Amino acid sequence: MTTSPQRFDAIVVGAGAAGLFCAGVAGQLGLKVLLVDHAAKVAEKIRISGGGRCNFTNRELDPRAPHKHFLGGNPHFCRSALSRYTAEDFIGLVRRHGIAFHEKHKGQLFGDRSSDDFIQMLLAECGAGGVERWQPCAVRAVRTAGDGYEIDTDRGVASAPRVVIATGGLSIPQIGASDFGHRIAAQFGLKLVPPRPALVPLTFEGASWAPYAGLAGLALPVRIATGSKKAAMAFDEDLLFTHRGLSGPAVLQISSYWAPGTPIRIDLAPATDVAAALADAKLRSRKLVANELATLVPERLADAWMQGRPTLQRPVVEAADKALAALAHDIANWELVPAGTEGYRKAEVTAGGVDTRELSSQTMESRQPGLYFIGEVVDVTGWLGGYNFQWAWASAWACAHGM
Ligand code: FDA
Repeated sequence: MTTSPQRFDAIVVGAGAAGLFCAGVAGQLGLKVLLVDHAAKVAEKIRISGGGRCNFTNRELDPRAPHKHFLGGNPHFCRSALSRYTAEDFIGLVRRHGIAFHEKHKGQLFGDRSSDDFIQMLLAECGAGGVERWQPCAVRAVRTAGDGYEIDTDRGVASAPRVVIATGGLSIPQIGASDFGHRIAAQFGLKLVPPRPALVPLTFEGASWAPYAGLAGLALPVRIATGSKKAAMAFDEDLLFTHRGLSGPAVLQISSYWAPGTPIRIDLAPATDVAAALADAKLRSRKLVANELATLVPERLADAWMQGRPTLQRPVVEAADKALAALAHDIANWELVPAGTEGYRKAEVTAGGVDTRELSSQTMESRQPGLYFIGEVVDVTGWLGGYNFQWAWASAWACAHGM
């Protein structure tokens, strides 16, 4: 015996940041919404975000100039959604729910207590919108039916004139990430920008990395850059040495812009004129070059740097001017070619995704009428620092108001 599908006004697939928010807003606008997610726990990425405190937005986001903080085939695509639902709008919602927060660094806002406050807030918004949530519940198929869609799920068939895909990117498959959104886009003939891990640690080859492997755990502020000198992208952030390579905010940021096979450039002492400091030391110091360098960069780094540089293993007063100048130059221009990235296992986000040329920037509806894509599944990738969540909120809001 076949049972007739349960009917809704909209079905949202994916109960993460974008899906929860979209479902709640659409429900409060009067739509009968079904929210479906295959994972056992709701919004696991929000839970682990921001070191457990959720960096939920960024006050420096300028919706008129999205290319400053977002990458993608068309960085201006997100301008409309980001200007209609701003960081201040989301901050207002957070305040209405009585969640205390603070600014940490460069406009980044974090909850004072725990990411769970934000999950509870989004669930309460869904509750206020009468959203029905099926979770855990796998979605086996999406197909057109009549003038809308039907989805086959573990809990039976549901139908609606609109389906919103909010299944996120590929990073951290251990907690529910899947390529569902990409497959649905392909099923309906929508173009994809090839996905790749972004905001991800970079790795280096064993032998070339050997001198630095012992520095694992060391962190220091740097200026990091990639790209041609003319079109370089650069960040002033902290760098972290790991056993396999480099991480920390500086490297996560630059990884989104790094092209395989090309170098990254690091100034290891951006706030110091190393050349002038070494020239000055030569006039007054009897210490070894390594010891003088250790007053300018962390000691462990100075020691590692001196390995394999025998001409500098002597008192600074005996070092040639040229050798000291070359040392200063190398410290400010450390150029290295990563072997690769730590991949989706460690990436905070996925760059690429559903091509924005297939979507309306006003509503997130695709060329396939009634089929919407929001959040990370779209080819819009934000910088580290709350930008990806703000895109999730803004694209969800635009979609909920456009349905
Ligand atoms: P999201 O991944 O949140 O949700 C997708 C949902 O779809 C999941 O619940 C998943 O289970 C579900 N799903 C997937 N496949 C499915 C299928 N086949 N069927 C049914 N459901 C399916 N960003 C930021 O701005 N500030 C921060 O502090 C952080 N911190 C951070 C830390 C770490 C460790 C990571 C990995 C990521 C971040 N991010 C972040 C990025 C941020 O978490 C991310 O960009 C958003 O969660 C994206 O929201 P979405 O709703 O698009 O996807």
